[in-house]
Formats: sequence, structure tokens, C-alpha cells
Amino acid sequence: MRSVTCTLLLGTCILVLGPAARGVLSQCPNLCHCHGDLQHVICDSEGLKKIPQVSEATRLLNLQRNNLGGIPSGAFSESKGLVSLHMQHCQLREIESQAFKGLKKLVYLYLSNNKISSIKSGAFEDLTELTYLYLDGNQISELSKGIFSPMINLFVLQLNDNRLRELRPGTFAGTKDLRWLHMSGNELTTLHPGSLDDVENLAILHLDRNKLSSYPSAAMSKLRVVEELMLGTNPMRAIPDNAFQSFGRYMEKLHLDNMGLEKFSGGAFNGVTAVRVLHLHNNKLKSLPGAMQLGTITNMTLFNNPWNCSCQLLPLRKWIDSHQNQTDVLCASPPEQKGKQVRENTAIKRCKSKVKKSKPGRRN
Ligand SMILES: *[C@@H]1O[C@H](CO)[C@@H](O)[C@H](O)[C@H]1NC(C)=O
Ligand SMILES: *[C@@H]1O[C@H](CO)[C@@H](O)[C@H](O)[C@H]1NC(C)=O
Ligand SMILES: *[C@@H]1O[C@H](CO)[C@@H](O)[C@H](O)[C@H]1NC(C)=O
Repeated sequence: MRSVTCTLLLGTCILVLGPAARGVLSQCPNLCHCHGDLQHVICDSEGLKKIPQVSEATRLLNLQRNNLGGIPSGAFSESKGLVSLHMQHCQLREIESQAFKGLKKLVYLYLSNNKISSIKSGAFEDLTELTYLYLDGNQISELSKGIFSPMINLFVLQLNDNRLRELRPGTFAGTKDLRWLHMSGNELTTLHPGSLDDVENLAILHLDRNKLSSYPSAAMSKLRVVEELMLGTNPMRAIPDNAFQSFGRYMEKLHLDNMGLEKFSGGAFNGVTAVRVLHLHNNKLKSLPGAMQLGTITNMTLFNNPWNCSCQLLPLRKWIDSHQNQTDVLCASPPEQKGKQVRENTAIKRCKSKVKKSKPGRRN
């Protein structure tokens, strides 16, 4: 009896006495589901047109798949306790300056699959704890200088499938701990020198499916610890000397497939000592540099290249024979080898015996 009375009274109190906002904040927002004393507020696919107000008690706010259109300044000013904010598929077009003001505890911010074309400068103010930022699947064509600079703890930045055309110095100013940078599927033609200098600790860099027609040596030269580099599906015809040198001791995965790649300079792989996975398929490669070390590689894709089955291919033939016996690696030249497999290729095998004979066998 008593509790019923209290609930009724409380309802009256809110209407008559309490400040309207406070009353609203102590309840689960209309159309949403709440768990754990409002710690989790779930409003997935509810047809919301406005961002609901939640209290400081809320840690996770899931607003996925609503038609929100934009994030106004201070939209979350009452929600200072948020750790995780989900706004994928919300038809967002614009992020205003100070859109996330007050969210000093936010760690995860999901903004993927919207229509964001404009991020106003100062949009990310206060996001000092943010560690994971997902902006993939939007229409971002430009990033203003220092846009991410409040995010001194940023670790993962997802920008795949946007419309970025170039990267300029200062884009990543302040995010010195960034480790994963994903920019696949953009329209990048140029990474200006210095554009990656602020993120020298990158471990994973994805630049595949862009429009880079030359290897961005100057932009890459400060990177020290890249473990995984994806450059596939860029119209790049050559890889220059020392391309990977500054991080060659760390690089384990390198994807250079589907590029129309014709040539590696002789010293392209200088300093590369740890690579395990190398994708080279769907290119126009005839040979690999003589100085290249294949010993650490466990997985290599080689098909759809016009391999020149002359003696310079001997190290590659040996690698194929001792690793994956790939039957889809074919010679395009010389004419008498055309269409034959590189694997166990007799023309190349002869080189082997020649090499052996030319070396005095000390044990014989
Ligand atoms: C490497 O090759 C093995 C055997 O062919 C395969 O099972 C494995 O998935 C490959 N690993 C990677 C990372 O591609
Ligand atoms: C194949 O390599 C041999 C030996 O280096 C060279 O003489 C020949 O011109 C090359 N063929 C093609 C098509 O590049
Ligand atoms: C590749 O084939 C050759 C001959 O058929 C065989 O001796 C060798 O063990 C095979 N290597 C692998 C990794 O399967």
C-alpha cells in the first residue's frame, strides 16, 4: 500500500515541484529500454528524431538506427557518465562544434554508417578519454587540422569508406598513441610529407582501395613500428628503394595485391626482416628483387603475375616448393615457358644446378 502511494506521490512531485529536466532524467527515456538502474539505455531502431536526455548514471547509450540527422552542440551535456555511445545508422550529416561537450569519460564512440560530410572544428572537444572512434562508412572528404587533438588517448581510428582525398600535416596532431589507423576505401591520391609524423607509433595502417599512384615514402618515413601495412588496390606501378625501412623490423603483414604493380626497386625491401604474410597477387610482376629475403615468409600469394621464369626466379621457386606448392603461379616468359608453372619449373631448376656447380663443394 505504502509503496503505491509513494509512486503516485512521486509522479505528482515531478509535475508540480521538481525541475522538469531532473524528473525526466530519473526515468527511462520514452521508447527506450533501460537496464541496471539506467546504466544501460537502449533505444535501437525506435524511430527517434531527437537525442534523448539521459542522466549522469548512464554508462552506455545505444541510439543505433534512428533518424537523428545531426548532433547539436551540447547534445549530451546532462550525460557526463557515458562510457560508450552508439550512433550507427542514424542518418547523421553534421557534427557541430562541441557536440560531445562534457563527455570526459567516453571511451567508445560509434558513428559508422551515417552520412557525415562535415565535422566542425571543435566537434570532439572534451573527449580526452576516447580510445575507440568509428567513423567508417560516411562521406567525409576533409579533416581539418587538429580535429582529433583533444583525443590524447585515441588508440583505434576507423575512417574506412569515406571520401578523403588527401592527408595534410597536422591532421592527427595530438593523437600520439594512435595504434590502428584504417583508411581503406577512400579517394586518397596524396599523403603529404609530414601527414603521419604525429602518429609515429602506428602498428596497423590500412590504405588499400585508394588512388595512390606512387608510394608515399616521405609521409611514411617517421613510422617506426608498423606491423601491418595494407596498400592493395591502389594504382601504384613501382615500389621504391627503402620503402619500408623505418619499420622493417616490425612489419609482419604486407598487402600489395591488385595494384598493377610492375616493379620493385632493388632495395625496396631494405630493412625488412620479419615479414610473414605477403600478398602480391593480381599485379604485373615479372620478378622479385634479388636482395629480398624470403626466409621469414610463411604465406605469400603470387598468382596472376607475368613471372619471368629465368634464373632470377630461383629463390621464389625454392620458396614455392618448400611452402605452399602453389599451382596457380605461372610463367609468362621466356616464350618456351609461357603458361608453365613456376613450381618445379625445369628451366629454373637448371639454374639451381648451375649455381651449385659454380660453387666449390667443400664437403665433397
Ligand atoms: C597462411 O596459410 C595457411 C596455409 O595455406 C592458411 O591456413 C592460413 O590461413 C594463412 N594465414 C594467413 C594469415 O593468410
Ligand atoms: C627475363 O629475364 C631475363 C634474364 O634476366 C632477361 O634477359 C629477359 O629480358 C627477361 N624477360 C622479360 C620479358 O622481361
Ligand atoms: C611440394 O611438392 C614437392 C614435390 O611434389 C614435395 O616434395 C614437397 O614436400 C611439397 N612441399 C609442400 C610444402 O607440400
